[in-house]
Amino acid sequence: TSHSVGSRLLHSFYQFFPRSLSPSLPGPLSLPLLGNMLELAHDHLPSHLTSLARRYGNIYRLKCGNTTMVVLNSGDVIREALVKKWSDFAGRPHSYTGDVVSGGGRSISLGDYSEEWRAHRRLAHNALQRCSQQSLHGVIQKQALHLRQVLLDYNGRAADLSEDFTVAASNIITTLAFGKEYEKSSAELQRLHGCLNEIVSLWGSPWISALDCFPLLRVGQVYTLIHTTLSDRETACTDKEDIAITSALLNGLGKPQDTTQGVVLTDTHVHMATVDLLIGGTETTAAWLSWTVAFLLHRPEVQYRVYDELCSVLDGRYPQYSDRHRLPVLCAVISEVLRLRPVAPLAVPHRAIRDSSIAGYFIPKNTVIIPNLFGAHHDPAVWTDPYSFKPERFLEGGGASTRALLPFGGGARLCLGEAVAKMELFLFTAYLLRDFQFVPAESQTSLPDLIGVASVVLKAKAYSVIALPRPGP
Ligand code: HEM
Repeated sequence: TSHSVGSRLLHSFYQFFPRSLSPSLPGPLSLPLLGNMLELAHDHLPSHLTSLARRYGNIYRLKCGNTTMVVLNSGDVIREALVKKWSDFAGRPHSYTGDVVSGGGRSISLGDYSEEWRAHRRLAHNALQRCSQQSLHGVIQKQALHLRQVLLDYNGRAADLSEDFTVAASNIITTLAFGKEYEKSSAELQRLHGCLNEIVSLWGSPWISALDCFPLLRVGQVYTLIHTTLSDRETACTDKEDIAITSALLNGLGKPQDTTQGVVLTDTHVHMATVDLLIGGTETTAAWLSWTVAFLLHRPEVQYRVYDELCSVLDGRYPQYSDRHRLPVLCAVISEVLRLRPVAPLAVPHRAIRDSSIAGYFIPKNTVIIPNLFGAHHDPAVWTDPYSFKPERFLEGGGASTRALLPFGGGARLCLGEAVAKMELFLFTAYLLRDFQFVPAESQTSLPDLIGVASVVLKAKAYSVIALPRPGP
């Protein structure tokens, strides 16, 4: 098949140095066929890198163009680099195009580690935390109810729900950021999503080292479009009291930042933080919801167990996030989907900002580090039967612990939206499974594919599903 030919090609171009990361080794070969690599990146790179780990060990290095990359494939080595030695590996690879996308490097997700970046991230973190405490729960509940209505309007017809999930996820961020939500059919939303998709496709690209071949003009256009859309929104919303994130972000400006170098943050930082949240918070959550429904179609009895639990614990009412401790089956499903399909499977590439080491191997400054979260979540040394969907592994006596999961990365670059995402995943899933039974579109033969398509975000292939309303309480 083209896949196996592709894999062999990839093999012959990469040079591996299993358990031998000493710089005294001969330099790796360069990679002449960039085009092929890009196609391969679309195939299922996380799974490919994982299979290489089974042969070469949990840490190995690849050379791609002029860039040396070290791939980390187990929870232990990923935690050592990202958490324990966070200050050595908190950088991002430099790339000219990345700078264009991110407004001169002033992006949280792509920006390299610096005092300015730290102040910027802290500003966004505080703003997000403040609005999480104030309004997040209500905002998610409203979108969950809206999604419920959208599914009811399908009237039992089979439909591909992926776009509805994307709209729900992006409406949460736009409500928080601009006090505005969009209808699926609105031209404004289509334009915004078009832009976001293009930027997302670049988000994790530095590790392909192909970024510099990307047509710069196009990237510039995308950035300008986002910039204008957001500026319009902000202007239109200036007198609204409840634009939580934006006002909390703006509140943080003009005040001395708590740094040694007297960093001054500007409204460009506010702007870029908003773009970061939109990019980070839309496709990830939406993809996770599609995966959840896909897995539940394969195991209808699990769906029934969650429904049963929701009925008996909630007694007919809608759930609150605080109910999660009393809903272990639902939480186990959420964890298992995060394990099998960490939607940012290779996180975002890191860069060593000084000479350091991982697992005893010397890692020179500027090495690009790829945390293979997908690989860590399929490590047979940690997970029994790692490729099977078994939420029961997280239930009492099931032997697995959520502490071994790393879907949000860790350390200085931990997903900024982790708390938001967790509340979204919980409330959306609880609302959907309380009100609907998901059944395959036609026959059992139409069960969705579970491999998916991996680029920056690991997405399920398009599939249709019927959402049958449950009888009312
Ligand atoms: C970064 C996962 C949802 C905002 C990341 C990273 C991962 C991740 C693995 C990269 C960490 C690293 O570089 O080591 C996820 C998953 C999500 C999710 C699995 C949902 C299921 C969200 C949401 C938001 C968000 C809802 C916004 C509200 C961000 C931002 C970054 C990031 C801004 C960049 C952080 C930085 O570079 O310092 N996410 N994410 N994410 N995420 Fe998320």
